[in-house]
Amino acid sequence: GKAGHDHYMHKEIHEQPNALRQAISGRIDELTGNASLDIDLDERYLQAVDEIHIVACGTSYHAGLYAKELLEPLVDLTVRVDLASEYEVYDGFDSRRTLVVAVTQSGETADTLSAIRRAKAPGMTTLAVTNTVGSTITREVDDSLFIKAGPEIGVAATKTFVSQVTALALFTIYLGRLRGTISAGDGADILENIRRLPNAVQSILDAEPNIKRLAKQYVDSDAFFFIGRGLAYPVALESALKLKEISYAHAEGFAAGELKHGPLALVTKNTPVLAFLSESASPDETFNNVKEVESRGAPVIGLSTSDGTESFCKHTIDIPSLGRLEPLVANVALQLFAYHVANEMGRPIDKPRNLAKSVTVE
Ligand code: M6R
Repeated sequence: GKAGHDHYMHKEIHEQPNALRQAISGRIDELTGNASLDIDLDERYLQAVDEIHIVACGTSYHAGLYAKELLEPLVDLTVRVDLASEYEVYDGFDSRRTLVVAVTQSGETADTLSAIRRAKAPGMTTLAVTNTVGSTITREVDDSLFIKAGPEIGVAATKTFVSQVTALALFTIYLGRLRGTISAGDGADILENIRRLPNAVQSILDAEPNIKRLAKQYVDSDAFFFIGRGLAYPVALESALKLKEISYAHAEGFAAGELKHGPLALVTKNTPVLAFLSESASPDETFNNVKEVESRGAPVIGLSTSDGTESFCKHTIDIPSLGRLEPLVANVALQLFAYHVANEMGRPIDKPRNLAKSVTVE
């Protein structure tokens, strides 16, 4: 049942600290600065891989975009992230040195399954990052990495996003240590942030009354825009998807630097802009974009690790310092924002119109 919550989505948002503890449990080896993952793929193959293709849909695609931002600077690889329905295999890369990673909560998404089938045709090795033991995808791929988030019932993916990114962060460390691009010390530093993640998420959940107040204040807006850079860009896309699917409001996520290339024309005093200003997401550059929208009268809600820049925003939501995982923590604040906007509108949050939890048609 819903254990006292009005909706499964609300329950699942609040389950995140525990879901994360499960995802991490037994997978951190502090001594060697490594992640211990039960992956059976051949280590010599993983050392020789020079390209990763990530395929996924919806929220899982956003987790894939986040993973690319972790993998590329830390592991010596090219990472391509494709919407599963758009994934096509052309010549021009070495299929024996390419790993295809499917990210899917359910393991049953038809678009993702068919992308994996396309990858297997020329002989590429495949890995699923999934929540569902025994799902169709686990039977089709070479190996699976389970995110251990526990069952998710709300149509909106919440706890599985944070768990997917965490599993992919652990995978990044594992690959980097295996290939010698991440030192034991750097591995230990990232692992330390992963270990702190459950409590960091809890601190956001504790700020729910503040986030709920903002949601009520802006519920009648014409549209909602989310802006971020780097690691925060996929989180801006994810936040917009969450809000639009459960509230039916117009919501869009943009790379902060792209505003001036078109979307700025949509900005008015009735379009709140939620801006990711945390330390790991180039806050100074994004701050210039905040000024652009403020001068058009838009109210700005800044998500920040409080270094001072946020004092220029109309409202702020504090994010704990957590290196590369800060935007992931900030995402939880915007899950709560989306939830409270939709709840204020009286929407059927766990079963939005036209949508299904797992999409088994292409
Ligand atoms: O089960 P999957 O992760 O493969 O599902 C992919 C998408 O259908 C899913 O994330 C969808 O976008 C959610 N409703 C988003 O909240």
